[in-house]
Amino acid sequence: MSSGLPLSRTLSPPAGQGSDHSPSPSASGETEGPVHGSARSAAQGQAPAWEGEGQRPFVVAIDGPAASGKGTLARRLAERFGLAHLDTGALYRATARLVLDENGDPANPVTAETAARRVDPQLRADPRLRGDTVASAASVVAAIPEVRRALLGLQRGFAVHPPSPARGAVLDGRDIGTVVCPAADVKLFITASTEARAARRVKELREQGAAAIYENVLQDLNERDARDSRRRAAPLMAAHDAHIIDTTTLDADVVFERACDFVVRALKEKEWQQ
Ligand code: CDP
Repeated sequence: MSSGLPLSRTLSPPAGQGSDHSPSPSASGETEGPVHGSARSAAQGQAPAWEGEGQRPFVVAIDGPAASGKGTLARRLAERFGLAHLDTGALYRATARLVLDENGDPANPVTAETAARRVDPQLRADPRLRGDTVASAASVVAAIPEVRRALLGLQRGFAVHPPSPARGAVLDGRDIGTVVCPAADVKLFITASTEARAARRVKELREQGAAAIYENVLQDLNERDARDSRRRAAPLMAAHDAHIIDTTTLDADVVFERACDFVVRALKEKEWQQ
């Protein structure tokens, strides 16, 4: 018998949406005992074998500040566990791109909401979304409640109905564990010092052949973090039940293995509930 929550409840926002959560320390990343069934297949890199109709998808919510490594982690987890991945930042970036393409003002709520309603998931792949101008404009449109509302259905739709054959999804962003999927099976909050994040972003930009100056990148990150954290609509914060991983001194592989432990443990729990 399944004691899992109905999906409508699973994905509905908590009372006082995203305004009263504070970061909390998490359990350790150790797995306990043997890994069974779907948890074992997932741990071995196969898609978890959930049977039957009406089971809600397995959802991993990853939040964190800019350049914390949550995108890379989300992609790797999705691949390891056979889950679909949605980079929700790309939706805000696509909104900003549409506004900038038409010489609009990203801070104008009507312009930004109109653009958000036009966002097509296919736009997520546009390489022009990756630039810093778009990132800054994205954090401006993202502070507008109407924009967030316009993009919410798309994100929840992805979590409820991940593209086949995935039986679950990994979503990464700023408010996934607090607002978009408040009852996700696993919530991770990935963070690092601003200096470490700036250094990583500079390295990434240089690898892409772009000229990047550390001081400018650091300033951009600080401004964006401040805007994302201080806004009233779904500010960046860890859900009260998120596992917080500070990656300042951690290698990406260590972070990945630690996150895998949390996922495997949640898969086992889900299996026991069914
Ligand atoms: O990749 P990076 O962490 O630099 O940024 P991103 O995840 O692509 O997000 C770009 C901007 O979109 C962020 O600075 C946020 O303002 C906004 N965003 C948001 O408000 N909520 C989300 N769930 C995802 C992104």
